[in-house]
Amino acid sequence: MSVPTFVVLAAGQGTRMRSATPKVLHDLCGRPLVDWPVAAAREAGGRVVVVDSPAGALAEHFTGQDDVVVAVQPQPDGTAGAVAAAAGHLPSDAPVVILAGDVPLVTAEALRALLAAHASSGAAATIATMRLADPSGYGRIVRGADGSVERVVETKVAGDATEEELLIDEVNTGLFVFDGGALRDALPQVGAHTAQGERYLPDVLPVLRAAGARVAGHEVADPDLMLGINDRRQLALVREIAQQRIFDRLAAGGVTIIAPAATSIDVGVELGEDTLVEPGVVLRGATSAGARCHLGPQSTLIDTRLGDDVTVRHTYATDAEIHDRVSVGPFAYLRPGTVLREGAKVGTYVEIKNSDIGPGAKVPHLSYIGDADVGEQSNLGAGTITANYDGRNKHRTTIGARVHGGVDTSFVAPVTVGDDAWTAAGSVVTSDVPPGALAVARAKQRNIEGYDARQRGE
Ligand code: UD1
Ligand code: MG
Repeated sequence: MSVPTFVVLAAGQGTRMRSATPKVLHDLCGRPLVDWPVAAAREAGGRVVVVDSPAGALAEHFTGQDDVVVAVQPQPDGTAGAVAAAAGHLPSDAPVVILAGDVPLVTAEALRALLAAHASSGAAATIATMRLADPSGYGRIVRGADGSVERVVETKVAGDATEEELLIDEVNTGLFVFDGGALRDALPQVGAHTAQGERYLPDVLPVLRAAGARVAGHEVADPDLMLGINDRRQLALVREIAQQRIFDRLAAGGVTIIAPAATSIDVGVELGEDTLVEPGVVLRGATSAGARCHLGPQSTLIDTRLGDDVTVRHTYATDAEIHDRVSVGPFAYLRPGTVLREGAKVGTYVEIKNSDIGPGAKVPHLSYIGDADVGEQSNLGAGTITANYDGRNKHRTTIGARVHGGVDTSFVAPVTVGDDAWTAAGSVVTSDVPPGALAVARAKQRNIEGYDARQRGE
């Protein structure tokens, strides 16, 4: 079969979302709506054209993705207008698949099945349909006596459809395959459907029939694949299904999710075998974890990469890298640029930013480590603070291997502490500490005898 062209319609205003953000850029499990059908089309194999509005939000969104062509629909004159805007990119001798940018759960498999049905039916167009218990808001499929599709009646505005037509539970999914040539010839003959001059893509079907061609219907077995999003209620429904699919994929890969209803995991997240996800875990973006990790309870990991056998409890991490056998939390805050090397430990009420914590090193309690390098097996005492900001610039703290930091040590950066050095409790370290030395940087204790009695005037 010749290579199909996939056209993703995404220039609509999405007024029912009531949002300043274009509908198709709303997030669904970590990926904008429009990226879902585009991903399915890519996987199905073909050229991808996305139809954008003149505001250009999608042209910007797809910048740098060379396998996606963005066409602009000059005015929002309906779904037929949107396809017409892409006409210059349509082949006349290969199938053209039309997808809606607001139907995100479509899969490559469903696209391939539709293309196969189209190829075997010999029709000029094949429309994917589904039966819904609640078909409200969708266009309804009117079939002829021979089972072929006659037309689609819209139902958005009262009076569009008759009462009888409103009883039809088979709806237009918004997914079609056309013979490219037939589509290109028919499009200019589609007239305005509304007083505002909107031209509807389903109105291509009667034009094709009038020219003697056949239109086939292809009922999709799993209607979840075809759910469209027009408002936030539908977005919530689709999110639930999309989230369940992500859980199912992870479960198939050996991941245990204790409380799915209390867990949120984005589509791009990868987790290894025997990793356990406890209640209250949120995994966002490009987060990944290896095998046998223990995540949660109550942790949020954003774009954070974990090795194997990592434990993370009650933690919030963004753009951090956590190597094998590290333990984090409870109650840690890892900010961008944090690297925790193999076997390191970051404990309770610890904040780390843009720092490299070496293999086996420990920051167990109540500390702020920013812009620092900590060598292997070093142990920083409770209440360690890096004073990394002098009010104008950030400076680094460099701590060697096997350093024993006393409790309540402040490192005033820039400062370097040699391997095997020590700091005394309560030290404010402002100058470098040589390897193996003990830095004592605090006022010497003085006891004033009889003080209390003098206060009381005795
Ligand atoms: C459309 C179908 C309806 C079907 C439903 C499935 C038409 C007229 N109606 O209705 O039969 O049941 O999808 O979800 O096709 N778009 C443009 N330019 C425009 C208008 C829309 O690119 O001028 C894009 C939108 O961004 C959206 C898609 O086309 O991604 C569908 O548009 P939408 O307004 O959501 O149509 P529906 O009312 O849902
Ligand atoms: Mg829609």
